[in-house]
Amino acid sequence: MTNILICGVCGNMGHTVVRAANGRCDVNIVAGFDIKPSSDVDFPVYTELSQVSEQIDAIIDFSHPSMTDAILDYAAENHIPAVICTTGLSGEQIAKINSVSEETPIFFSANMSLGVNLIIDLVQRAAKILEDNFDIEIVEKHHNQKLDAPSGTALAIADAISDVLKYEPEYTYDRHSIRKKRDKHEIGIHSVRGGTIVGEHSVIFAGRDEVIEVKHTASSKEVFAVGALSAAVFLKDAKPGLYTMKELIAAQ
Ligand SMILES: NC(=O)c1ccc[n+]([C@@H]2O[C@H](COP(=O)([O-])OP(=O)(O)OC[C@H]3O[C@@H](n4cnc5c(N)ncnc54)[C@H](O)[C@@H]3O)[C@@H](O)[C@H]2O)c1
Repeated sequence: MTNILICGVCGNMGHTVVRAANGRCDVNIVAGFDIKPSSDVDFPVYTELSQVSEQIDAIIDFSHPSMTDAILDYAAENHIPAVICTTGLSGEQIAKINSVSEETPIFFSANMSLGVNLIIDLVQRAAKILEDNFDIEIVEKHHNQKLDAPSGTALAIADAISDVLKYEPEYTYDRHSIRKKRDKHEIGIHSVRGGTIVGEHSVIFAGRDEVIEVKHTASSKEVFAVGALSAAVFLKDAKPGLYTMKELIAAQ
């Protein structure tokens, strides 16, 4: 059994993780943390991490970047593995994740869905083959409540593609601000926000007279919750280090 503390427990993803955990026998949500606590759960919800008194095996964080440093400090001080799912983190926060992971197991993925991590693998393969003759553009769509743009997943896909290209691509987010033709060594990244779209990512390889599009659509937030719970179970007995979906998929 893995005893879990959920940070951001009263938000959309926090609630989804609680629901997903109810259907499993390998996890137990023992406490929550949120600045706006609600009482619709059957475990204590704290407004300060220092108030948590339960025995915690792993933390799952779906909150806000303003909370990430405190969660990482709490994980490091108490040697508790942490699954960081919050997106929109700064470069300094990513560096902090790396440094804390030297002593404490940390799992970090901008997208906890198995399907998205599979398309990352597919587009890396496509990019290697197509890079000389195709332009690469990424389009992501999310609900109208999402704060950050582009999505952490769109950036993770762009970074994964960059890793396999022979050249260093330039990311273009704001095409309307420059009046010039598209450079061959660009990756365009575009965000659409509306309604209740859970999350859609398309990678377009546009060549001469042909277009290849690789697309992932999440139709429920549960895919992220299931991935986060599996990551928490995986981290409980892991050695200190930085883990991603790659290691989780390999361990299945
Ligand atoms: N990695 C993934 O697969 C994945 C999937 C979905 C969402 N996310 C990310 O997870 C985060 C949360 O998403 P959501 O849709 O649940 O958002 P949400 O706004 O519904 O929930 C966030 C919760 O965090 C709480 N919170 C905000 N600031 C806080 C603070 N300083 N201290 C404590 N609690 C705080 C809020 O009160 C709220 O209950 C976002 O960054 C989102 O992009 C990641």
